[in-house]
Amino acid sequence: MCGIIGLVGSFNHYDVLLKGLKRLEYRGYDSSGIGYLNKDGIVINKYPESVDTLFKEVKKFTAYCSIGHTRWATHGKVSYKNTHPFISKNGLFCLVHNGTINNFLTLKEELISNGYIMNGDTDSEVLVNYLEYLFLNNHNILLSLKLLDSKLDGSYSLVIISKNEEALYFLKNQTSLLLIEKEEGYVLTSDVYSLDDKEINYYEFEDHQYGKIDNNVEIYKNDIKISHNFKRLIKDDVNINSCSCYLEKELFECPALIEKEIQYYSKSESIPQNVINELNSKRKIYVIGCGTSFHAGLIFKEIVDKEVEVILASEFIYQNKSLNENDGYIFISQSGETLDVIRSIEKVKNAFFISITNNKDSTISRKSKYHFDIMVQKEISVASTKAYFGEVVFLYILAKRMNDENYKEIFDLPFRMNQIKSNIKEIETLAYQVKEYKNLLFLGKGIDYLSCLECSLKLKEITYIHSEAIYLGELKHGPLALINKDFPSIILITNDELKEIGEISINEIKSRDGKVFIKQFDSSYKLSFLLQVYYYDFLAFLVAKNLGVNIDKPRNLAKSVTVE
Ligand code: M6R
Repeated sequence: MCGIIGLVGSFNHYDVLLKGLKRLEYRGYDSSGIGYLNKDGIVINKYPESVDTLFKEVKKFTAYCSIGHTRWATHGKVSYKNTHPFISKNGLFCLVHNGTINNFLTLKEELISNGYIMNGDTDSEVLVNYLEYLFLNNHNILLSLKLLDSKLDGSYSLVIISKNEEALYFLKNQTSLLLIEKEEGYVLTSDVYSLDDKEINYYEFEDHQYGKIDNNVEIYKNDIKISHNFKRLIKDDVNINSCSCYLEKELFECPALIEKEIQYYSKSESIPQNVINELNSKRKIYVIGCGTSFHAGLIFKEIVDKEVEVILASEFIYQNKSLNENDGYIFISQSGETLDVIRSIEKVKNAFFISITNNKDSTISRKSKYHFDIMVQKEISVASTKAYFGEVVFLYILAKRMNDENYKEIFDLPFRMNQIKSNIKEIETLAYQVKEYKNLLFLGKGIDYLSCLECSLKLKEITYIHSEAIYLGELKHGPLALINKDFPSIILITNDELKEIGEISINEIKSRDGKVFIKQFDSSYKLSFLLQVYYYDFLAFLVAKNLGVNIDKPRNLAKSVTVE
């Protein structure tokens, strides 16, 4: 799962390539590298470190064409030998790859038996050599790409430099690859955000397309030449202003963005009545997402009066149950690029489904007849915060519309979130205490437990403090064994009727020397379960800040998970 970019034309290759990679780091930042072709041949610079190292180490250069890669490790450790780009044994091709190849070991064995030696552990190194191996048999790059495509099982966007041509070659399957048209030439890249241009003309390649880009664009599928039309995109601005990191900015801007979203979706035509009717007519609705988006889906199930199953996309893909044609589907993905969700959509593509993303120009939105934008502007921090609120707001309104109920309480949400924001000093005091612990439990009941899941994910993701979400009633059935003076609990209770039962659990914890943190929220407000998440998102942010970790880019993670 990685970010790739390639340029051909009269660009300032150094500048556009390195800045492009920096902007693609949300897809992975374990290692980074570039390759380019100039009058001396193919040159490679790569490091098992983030793109900042490229800025420090790579000298300015000029090139006819260039490629770059920022990696999230899938095959093999973070090391020089596993860092892209890879060059083929005889130096004919240099390649960057996003995706994963399931049958790479079979291809590797075939290459080894034909005299190829590979130094690293990646599937991508096999690809560049296999391409060369095919080419040496037929001396035709386009034909070799077509043959390579037929040999591969997996997902792959490849951008390739050939030693003898001022051109880029490419091949694409199951993971996004775009062609962008610029005055200086063409850019091939994983997504439109690799360029900082406000307006962009792009074409999205389809699966199994391959071709050559120089002054001209040649796209093929199965030997047939494909014509292409560019689409115009105007991007949202992302400005970090005076905040210390994107997460801080994203938490602070959340109430204002949510307010706009509420205004928009409270107009009945913004969720057409036929969509409401279709969903209501279904036997059952499956809600599918990953991570934080999955947690947002759980809230929908809690609110809507209908049979709903919320399922992780990574599980849904491999479920063997036959699909019922009377079922409907809701796909949630803030990035719109999560591969597990894309594969889930492919599984039900003929059924009625809607998708919810924060990216109207994503693979998921393009695949959906009914797509709803949560409108909270691009999220950069790996930890998803404002997108969670954007997703829940949309799903809440959708559920209430399906129930034929009013949802006037939601109009008060931005104001109440602003109150939390202006009371950050209180959370700072809590953060100061929480940072001392290595483990922590979030405990809740009913909808508060669903908030616990999200709070716990956020805390562990950005602070590395181990935390778990546990149903309050389950404490005594096992987790209580963990409690001692070094293992505190945060209790989430927004329902007055449950306070008594909560007290019992609190006493059980205190009797074992466990510290309890509890914040009272207005129990008469129906959406207090969400306010809790906002409050504890700030806690996670402030603990991470105290601990001095890289808040926007937690170790081992990436913003968009474009591999299985
Ligand atoms: O872009 P998506 O909503 O599809 O992403 C799903 C998860 O990868 C994502 O929510 C992840 O869990 C976040 N980093 C959590 O903060």
